[in-house]
Amino acid sequence: MGLIKAVMFDLDGVIVDTSNYHYLSWKKLCLELDYNLNESGNDFLKGLSREDSLLKIIDLANISLSEEKFKEYLIKKNSYYLDFINNLSPENILPGVLSFLRYLKKKSIKISLCSSSKNAKFVLEKLDMISLFDIIVDGNDIKMSKPDPEIFLIASKKLVTEPKNCLVFEDAQSGIDAANKAGMTVVGIGNKNKLKNLKYCFPDFLKIPDHLINYFFNEER
Ligand code: BG6
Ligand code: MG
Repeated sequence: MGLIKAVMFDLDGVIVDTSNYHYLSWKKLCLELDYNLNESGNDFLKGLSREDSLLKIIDLANISLSEEKFKEYLIKKNSYYLDFINNLSPENILPGVLSFLRYLKKKSIKISLCSSSKNAKFVLEKLDMISLFDIIVDGNDIKMSKPDPEIFLIASKKLVTEPKNCLVFEDAQSGIDAANKAGMTVVGIGNKNKLKNLKYCFPDFLKIPDHLINYFFNEER
């Protein structure tokens, strides 16, 4: 048995490229706030809950919102997002994800989804992927969003697997920080020049080298 006994997947930007739709939805909302959200501003939002994302925007745009408006904007952002993902289908699953999940199943590795999104189950249904996960921990199950390690610690407890035997796949700095705080091994999916505090990073699952897969799942410890 190798070092890794459970794998935790972020959703947006790791399994499916919905992170761009989150960005476009926030960008549309920000126009109504007279704020131009660009990609570098959006990097601060990735992985945060809906509420924490709007708090960050308030900070970036240097504005204030009443409690009522805050709630109204959260609903608006979500309706923009739901419009964007209306046509999501299994074709949108990112390269290499399904074959990697099949490999993990064959090796009897436990599999969890760990997403801050409250839409996670809805998105997985659209992708026809619900049955591939042993457990799903999403934005409805947590009190503190990434970079807090809560989401990963809940999953490790539910799967009865110590953090040192858990591997996390993340595309966002907040998620990488959360997994590091949880004491887990992290693999970044995305551009390694944009992510820090990371030993391993690949543009997608197809680029993960065989020797690393062997190191995680096959080498006797
Ligand atoms: C995370 C995304 O997975 O979910 C964030 O990276 C998003 O961008 C967050 O804000 C919350 O998603 P939702 O679907 O609950 O608004
Ligand atoms: Mg993500």
